Amino acid sequence: MTQRILLIVSGGIAAYKALELVRLLKGKGLAVRAVLTDAATKFVTPLSFGVLTEDHVYGDMFDLKEEREIGHIQLSREADLIVVAPATANILAKMASGIADDLAATVLLATDKPVLAVPAMNVRMWDHKATQRNLDTLRGDGIHVMEPDVGAMACNEWGKGRLPEPAAIVQEIERLLAEAPSPAALLTDTSRTIHAPDLSHANLLGRHVLVTAGPTHEPIDPVRYIANRSSGQQGFAIAAAAAQAGARVTLVAGPVSLPTPRGVTRVDVQTAREMQAAVEGALPADIAILVAAVADWRAADEAGQKIKKDGSGAPAPLALAENPDILATLARHIQRPALLVGFAAETETVVDHAIAKRQRKGADWIVANDVSGDVMGGSHNSVHLVTAQGVEDWPDMPKALVATRLIERISDELAAR
Ligand code: C5P
Repeated sequence: MTQRILLIVSGGIAAYKALELVRLLKGKGLAVRAVLTDAATKFVTPLSFGVLTEDHVYGDMFDLKEEREIGHIQLSREADLIVVAPATANILAKMASGIADDLAATVLLATDKPVLAVPAMNVRMWDHKATQRNLDTLRGDGIHVMEPDVGAMACNEWGKGRLPEPAAIVQEIERLLAEAPSPAALLTDTSRTIHAPDLSHANLLGRHVLVTAGPTHEPIDPVRYIANRSSGQQGFAIAAAAAQAGARVTLVAGPVSLPTPRGVTRVDVQTAREMQAAVEGALPADIAILVAAVADWRAADEAGQKIKKDGSGAPAPLALAENPDILATLARHIQRPALLVGFAAETETVVDHAIAKRQRKGADWIVANDVSGDVMGGSHNSVHLVTAQGVEDWPDMPKALVATRLIERISDELAAR
């Protein structure tokens, strides 16, 4: 599973080095999410962090949109490690006395995860009794504190207080991640679980779940396209259930008229090739659930103008080209999600086809359904879950329940691994 760092950047001249830190951490395959204090934004921009982290950058405690989509409690809980770098004398003082007057400080007070503080400040501020007292308090509270480097300071003084080199911070982060308690251990330690979430769902907390849904439209000319009857309901229900379970969800949706489920990031596409690009663009993901009914073929050449009848009575020729198989591509991808789930819509010998499809495409699981009735566009689904261990036949139920049950099943799988 991808390990996640929540990087809190406070306002010091060394804040620019936090950008290099993000680059190095991402290079190690870690997911990084950034919170900037107001003062930090005077030194570095949220935009730079957004580009490097490939994530939203958080900052405003009272931004209702942020609080609705991801509250400060969730932000503080869904990281494996919180890193404060650079940590100014000010934020260290707030941490030591439990002040929560902005998002960064509130996250630090709300978290039950290991915290690494990487101080950087003027040597006199470092040496000040108040700072040293705060550092003693923090160490006593179990906060990991990295010693600053000694050297020339931005303010033309010389001494202890320089931010350690980003590579050294990365080393320390890797060391702490290696000794961090596993998510499973945290779950059994009920004293740390304030919300007491449904344990069957808690394993999804903070995981990146990528879902595809709906049909694709493959243009023939400016007014015609190849499509299928998929409504997108099952995929949207799965995206909604994953978001409810606390996952960070990216939903790549073909052309459907469904509202975006709460807390889900939606990317709209039309064609299979656009869907593939959006899926690959959303990686890395911990789990991918490909529900979309992707068109197998597209028109080999899209006509620039509407194709006309030529009066001969003979139909216009329509040459087809095969579309990329997104599921099979993901299965071979260097950033293959740890759990890859495909769907199989069949009209006959459903389970046999699904077993063969699981092998052929390299998926971990295939959810197979018989679409010979009114499943496509309907509200119910009756599915079979095909895994390496065998086949589970699920009773006919609403698509929303299929979604919840699948998410629970995924959560159990994560716990078992
Ligand atoms: O081969 P078939 O279309 O039945 O495979 C279905 C599964 O493969 C679904 O999970 C679907 O989303 C995925 N798929 C895909 N790209 C394609 C065709 C199907 O990802 N071009």
